Order: sequence, then C-alpha cells, then structure tokens
Amino acid sequence: MENTAVQPLCATPGWTIDIATTLKMLHNGNRKLNRIPANMVCPNCATPLTVMPEHVACDKCSTEHPIVNGIPRFVEQEHLASFGLQWNRYEVAHDDEDRATFEAKTGFQLTELQGQRILDAGCGGGRYCKVAAEAGASVFGADHSSAVEKASSLCSHLENVRLVQGDLKKLPFQESSFDLVFSIGVMHHDSDTRAVFDSVAKMVKPGGRLAVWLYRLNTWPQEVLNNALRRRTTKMTPEQLEPWCRLGAFFGGIPVLKQSLSKVVNFSTHSNWENRVCDTFDWYAPAYQYHHTTEELSSWFREAGYDDLVVLPPEKTGAFYRWTWRNNLIVGSGVNVQGRRCDS
Ligand SMILES: C[S@@+](CC[C@H](N)C(=O)[O-])C[C@H]1O[C@@H](n2cnc3c(N)ncnc32)[C@H](O)[C@@H]1O
Ligand SMILES: [Zn+2]
Repeated sequence: MENTAVQPLCATPGWTIDIATTLKMLHNGNRKLNRIPANMVCPNCATPLTVMPEHVACDKCSTEHPIVNGIPRFVEQEHLASFGLQWNRYEVAHDDEDRATFEAKTGFQLTELQGQRILDAGCGGGRYCKVAAEAGASVFGADHSSAVEKASSLCSHLENVRLVQGDLKKLPFQESSFDLVFSIGVMHHDSDTRAVFDSVAKMVKPGGRLAVWLYRLNTWPQEVLNNALRRRTTKMTPEQLEPWCRLGAFFGGIPVLKQSLSKVVNFSTHSNWENRVCDTFDWYAPAYQYHHTTEELSSWFREAGYDDLVVLPPEKTGAFYRWTWRNNLIVGSGVNVQGRRCDS
C-alpha cells in the first residue's frame, strides 16, 4: 500500500501539513487550511488522506473530497438538510446555558477537558464544540449537514476546533483516537441509530469515555400522536413549517399552558423565543426521529465494550419535572448514558 501520510511540519498539536501545501497556502493567503484536521483517514478504506489546498484525497480509492470554506466535505446534506437550515438561521448559542447543558448531558466536567482530544459527534451549529474548546480541549466536530458553516463561524476565534462535514457512520478519523466523545441529540436522526452508535463508540480510546443523549420513548398515546403529527410536518417545506413552529413557540411562553399542553403536543418551552422556534422546528422537520429507552442505550454501551456506565439525570430538577420524566411523560426529553471503553 502506498504511504500517503503527509510530512509533519507545524509544531502546533493536531496540525500536520506538507511543505507544498504550506507554500501554496501562504501564496493563496488561505489561512483556513490551518484548521484541517491532521491524520485524517479515508472513510472507505482507512488509508491516510493527503491534504491538498482545495481537497483531500485517498490515493488507494482514487477519491477526492473538496475543502470548502476550510472544511473537508465528505458528504452532501441528504435527509439532514433541515438541520443545515435551522442551525444557520437561528441564533441559539448562550454561553452559560451551553456550559451547564454540556456538563449535564456529557457528565464531563469542564475542568477536566484541558488538553483532551475530543470528538463532538453531530456538532450542529457548534455550541458544544465552543464550550469544550474554550475549556482547553482539542475539539473535532463532525456533522452531516451545512450546520458546519455555523459551527465554523461560532468557533472562528478558536484555533483548537476542527470541523468536517461527514457521516458519523463513515468518519475520516482513526478508530480509538479520542480521549472523550460526546453526541448530544444526534444518533436518533439517522435511519439506523444503532449503526451510528457503534461507529462512534469505536472512536474512543481504550480507557476513554463516551456520552450519548437520545430522545426518550414516551407513553404509547404520546408516541402515536407524535408520529401522526410528524407524518404531516416532515412533508412540509421549511416555509410552511416555520409559522407552526412560531405558534408552538408562542404557546411555549405561556405559563401553565406550556407545562400541560407540551405533554400532549410537543413544542419548546425554552425561555428564549428564538430557541423555542428553533427547537420546535428541530422536532418536526427531520426525516427520522427515533425514541429509545435507557435500558436499550445501556445495552448498546455494554455490547460495544463499555463499562462503568452512568445514567445521567436530566438537567432540570423540580420534583414534578423529575416525576413526569421518570414516567416517560415529557415529550422531547432524553435518555442519557456515559461509559468508559474497556482497556481490551
Ligand atoms: C438536533 S442536532 C444536535 C446538534 C448538536 N449536538 C447540539 O446539540 O447543538 C442533530 C445534528 O446531528 C446531525 N446528524 C444526524 N445524523 C448524523 C449522521 N449520521 N452523521 C453526521 N451528523 C448527523 C444533524 O445534521 C444535526 O446537525
Ligand atoms: Zn480510500
């Protein structure tokens, strides 16, 4: 097999670019190439990829993947295009809230992230890439959709964030190469949640940790009603759907109504209007949305060779909230597990 690994040149951790590329880059004034992940491998054959100014190439498969706006693109958006639209359209990142949510949904403390190599599997608009990178981690964000554009602008000040537009089932990274991996609200949007889980689980180093948040399976009447609604909403254009999301966001701002009606028909009850519209769109637009149980997700962890499993509680605490959550009544709430990859 031809060795296509590029020559290490730059001393900054995580960067590897060859001399010809660097010269071209300087010539073109293209600074964004500095953010191309080092040591990427072909998603099809795992051969090291060659990084060129405008594409990355696998010499074994004779395939090329374009670099657009400084981000290697391995896939088109396909059925996940609604995410590209929503993350680029709405401003929903809030630093304090995102830090708290990151800790709650990953079980990783910000104080332990310094110097860690982290994969944000399904990074969307990059709010959690930003949180982890600001805490000192070397962060790699992967997403199937054009949401990576938003992630790129949100994290433009952070040289320790690198992005790819790719499918989590075919990542351009070496297996067992990350200290920590997290995936928040992502895998249930693929046609095969389990296949995404298994692929992402392999990215963690032995001894490293993986945290996954998936939608919770609600009671059967809630599931039947939701499926009936989504059968309609997933056929709507974004222009048709957004007014309904605005209506949901309006209800989501009305006390009492928001706690009761949202158990029947899901709409976001976030305190911020734009988050409510975005979250409601996020619920009704995607082609796939599967719901899971904690037992199911835990069994996937064990079968993938993980132990020390921790079932993470929801971020909200009130006694009534926790009771409804335990009884699977909160539509849009999650099942959340973190585990450690066994050493062998
Ligand atoms: C609800 S968003 C969550 C984004 C981010 N984790 C957050 O919480 O802000 C789900 C994201 O997962 C991405 N996604 C779903 N399936 C994927 C797959 N198979 N490969 C890569 N990305 C995927 C979508 O494109 C979308 O941006
Ligand atoms: Zn290849």
